[in-house]
Parts: sequence; structure tokens; C-alpha cells
Amino acid sequence: VKTIGILTGGGDCPGLNAVIRAAVKTALRRGIRVWGVQNGFGGLVEDQMVELDDRSVSGILPRGGTILGTTNRDNPFAYAVEIDGKTQYQDMSAKALENLRSKGIEALIVIGGDGSLAIAAKFNALGLPVVGVPKTIDNDIPGTERTFGFDTAVSIAGEALDRLHTTAESHHRVMVLEVMGRYAGWIALHAGLAGGADCILIPEIPYRMESVLEKISRRRQVGKHFSLIVIAEGAKPENGEVTISRIVENSHEKIRLGGVGEKLAREVESSTGLESRCTVLGHVQRGGTPTAFDRVLCTRYGVAAAECLVEGVSGCMVALRQDRIIRLPIVDIAGRSRQIEPDDELVCAGRAIGICFGD
Ligand code: F6P
Repeated sequence: VKTIGILTGGGDCPGLNAVIRAAVKTALRRGIRVWGVQNGFGGLVEDQMVELDDRSVSGILPRGGTILGTTNRDNPFAYAVEIDGKTQYQDMSAKALENLRSKGIEALIVIGGDGSLAIAAKFNALGLPVVGVPKTIDNDIPGTERTFGFDTAVSIAGEALDRLHTTAESHHRVMVLEVMGRYAGWIALHAGLAGGADCILIPEIPYRMESVLEKISRRRQVGKHFSLIVIAEGAKPENGEVTISRIVENSHEKIRLGGVGEKLAREVESSTGLESRCTVLGHVQRGGTPTAFDRVLCTRYGVAAAECLVEGVSGCMVALRQDRIIRLPIVDIAGRSRQIEPDDELVCAGRAIGICFGD
């Protein structure tokens, strides 16, 4: 391989630039030219690409966002085009491949979540060598123990819990923190443990309101007039409506999430009489500089992805398992997600120290 492309797809995530930097530096040192595709998969179709050199990636290791730009919505296999004022979806994959060919780009590194990796797998099936890098703060990509960005999101949510702790204690309030994660509770679980939450509510364990109220009441009986609850945006009550406050659209699905924290806080307040407040952490979890752990992980992923292509290996995703970087077939990952098992060691550890999971 003499020339490769690199692309960031889907929502942004702390560490994207660190992966780009590592992959570009590795490739350049092996004499391979690198093009950056701008604005995600849309840039492939629209022919928005720039050649990257050492200077393009200088100083970007700690920077949030992505120097390449990204978008949630563009799927070259169902690309939105305006025809007579109406949106129609067309297969523009041939155009995307032609744009790559015109620059001599023979292979592609796709840094993305499940939606982007599914698109990457389709291009790979069409004969374009592709390597995927698992990106998402949600940590829900199968085959890898860590997606990059997750550690940063957890540390931000953990810090938020520390701050909520002192104000909750001062005012004798119940503080609810709603965190991201889509259909998985990884951020809530890890942040809840790190931040000393009393209840951790995750999509994988439907919760009962009585169980949450019981926990708050037990704390009151021993003189603790405040409680901290962390709830994942995808958490749902065992019997009851799922609350929806927004629709999130990405390259392959529309999902409805959020609003669960506020609803829970209102129910807690009316049932206990304790003042309750909800904080929705939102995109703070996604912006800004990555943690040291993520910077190291991103560097390993970027190096590993470039090395795959140098060795002529493709159709894979780099992954972390038992602290080693491995390669997995991308078709085994695309379109799937990884949730927390109810007997996960961290759930058991939480139960052992008295954390309520709402069941
Ligand atoms: O997948 C990452 C994520 O941040 C989810 O945790 C969240 O539900 C979603 O993206 C938010 O998407 P958007 O930025 O489109 O609102």
C-alpha cells in the first residue's frame, strides 16, 4: 500500500485527534502517503479530502473534537440528496470509491462507532481494504474491552458526582445525574462506582421505583438526609413508560433517549418529600481533552490500525483485550452492540458495598 485515507465518522469523541496523529505518524514513517477525509462519510461522496503531513498532526494529541470534521448522518449507501425539493436516498458508494481512486487512495482507516463500522464493513466487502478503530464514549462496541473516549466520559461524570455530593449533603437533597450511553449503562456504572453513587440505574437492569425509594429511606434512617443517583439515559422502569426527550439520528438508525433523570427526580420528590434536583450532563461528556488513559489507548489504536494496512491486513477492527491490542473481523462487529451482563463483576462489586441497582 502506498497511499491510505483516514476518516472520522459519527459523533465526536475525546481522543479522535490522538488516533489520527498516531496513524498518520506511523504511516508517514513507513513511507506511506495519507489523505484525511473531511466531514465523515459525506466527505467521501463530496470529494472533500486533504493530504496530511507531519505538520498537520502536530500539537493535536490533547485536542478535543476532530481536525477532520465529522457528521452523524451521511451514509454513502443511502445518501440524502435533494430532488425537486424532496429528500431521496441514493447509493453513492461508487462515487465515493471513484473519489478515493482518483487520489490513489488504496485503503481506508475508519474511526467510528457501530454505525460507521457497519458502513466500513460494506466498503470492505466491495473490495476497498478497510481497518476500523472503535470510537465511542458509550463503550458498547463488541469485541473490545474499551472503546476510546469512554475513560474520559467516565472521569467527567465521576467528577460531576463528586461535586453533586457536597451540594447534596449541604442541602439535604436527592441529586440525580443523567449520563449518556445510549442503550448501555457503562458510563453510569463506572462513574457511579467512581463517584460513590447510592443508586446506579442502567438499561440492562430495569428498575423499580420502590427499590430506589427504599434505599433513600434506609439512608435517612441512619441520618443521611441526602442521596446520589446516577441514571443512564437509556434506563427504564420495570413497569412503565420510557421517557423520551430527544431523538438522536445517526447513519443507520433513529433513537429516542433522555428525560429519565428529570422524571425520576420528580417522582422521588413527590414520594419522599425530599427536595430533588436533576443534572443532565449531556455533551460535556464528549467535548474537550482526553484523559491520559485515552491518549495512550488512542495512540496504540492509531499505530495498530496503520500497521495493519502496512502489513496488508484489512477487513478488521483493532480492539483491546487483556491489555493487548488485537485484530477482529469487522463483519463480526458491525451493527452489534455490547451491553452489561447482570452478573458483571462491577455490578457485583457495587452490590457488595450496598449500591442499589433498582431491582
Ligand atoms: O454515542 C455517543 C452519544 O454521545 C450517546 O451517548 C448519546 O446518546 C448520543 O451520542 C448523542 O448524540 P447527539 O450528539 O447526536 O445528540
